[in-house]
Amino acid sequence: MTAFVAGATGYTGREVVRCLAAAGARVVAHVRPDSPRLEEWRSRFGAMGAQVDTTPWNAALLAATIAAVRPDVVFCLVGTTRRRMRHSPKDPFGRPLETYDCVDHELTAMLTRACVMADVSCRFVYLSAAGTGPKARTRYGQARWRAEEAVRSSGLPWTIVRPVIISGPNRGEWRPLERAAAVLGDAALRLLSHLGFPGPLRRFASIDAQALAAALVRASQDPLCVGRVLQRSDL
Ligand SMILES: NC(=O)c1ccc[n+]([C@@H]2O[C@H](COP(=O)([O-])OP(=O)(O)OC[C@H]3O[C@@H](n4cnc5c(N)ncnc54)[C@H](OP(=O)(O)O)[C@@H]3O)[C@@H](O)[C@H]2O)c1
Repeated sequence: MTAFVAGATGYTGREVVRCLAAAGARVVAHVRPDSPRLEEWRSRFGAMGAQVDTTPWNAALLAATIAAVRPDVVFCLVGTTRRRMRHSPKDPFGRPLETYDCVDHELTAMLTRACVMADVSCRFVYLSAAGTGPKARTRYGQARWRAEEAVRSSGLPWTIVRPVIISGPNRGEWRPLERAAAVLGDAALRLLSHLGFPGPLRRFASIDAQALAAALVRASQDPLCVGRVLQRSDL
């Protein structure tokens, strides 16, 4: 099996690369060419047995890469955060250039177009988020919905996964609010479960990158997951 992983440098992405490589897959880990940590990623992914690709985020260039790699599965695990947006380059009006729409939606849509242009029949696995939908109120939720719509309308066989909180002690990047929400939320959900209400724990518990990566890889291999949106309780 050959896999192309976009967003390979993220908390989830690097575990997906590790999980696939450990299972003996040929893995191409995509790293943006201007990443300040490119050499570090080359050595980390190289040690896992994965190959690094640095094609710029451009549909035609990505299509050429996908056509050459011929992946069976493409994982799209990219997304920005409010903190990254604050530090992103700004337009002349002071607005961030790397918004949820530009990154979470447009890069996902670009990758689906690249797969279609490359004319490869690969499973497209998209890591979305709980709470998205046609009536999502936040910019994040709206961008995620537009990204999902691009995936669903691409013509590729797709699987969408919607976790609630992705968190673990080994994230590396300091995200205190997310970590607190995961730890306190999970404690409350476990208490409810002990009191005889197990449903919320199954539906809303946080998940760490290792467990999520294993679920993403499993779903990518399961023909029953084609055309399905997997929620937290399915993982
Ligand atoms: N955290 C949560 O609780 C949660 C919950 C549900 C869903 N999600 C979604 O799940 C996805 C994965 O989560 P995660 O926590 O593993 O993400 P993460 O650690 O924040 O990694 C994000 C990935 O996206 C890439 N990226 C960000 N901005 C980019 C840009 N402008 N151009 C190209 N690549 C860019 C990053 O590359 P660089 O390393 O080069 O910046 C990195 O590979 C995210 O999209 C997130 O929105 C997160």
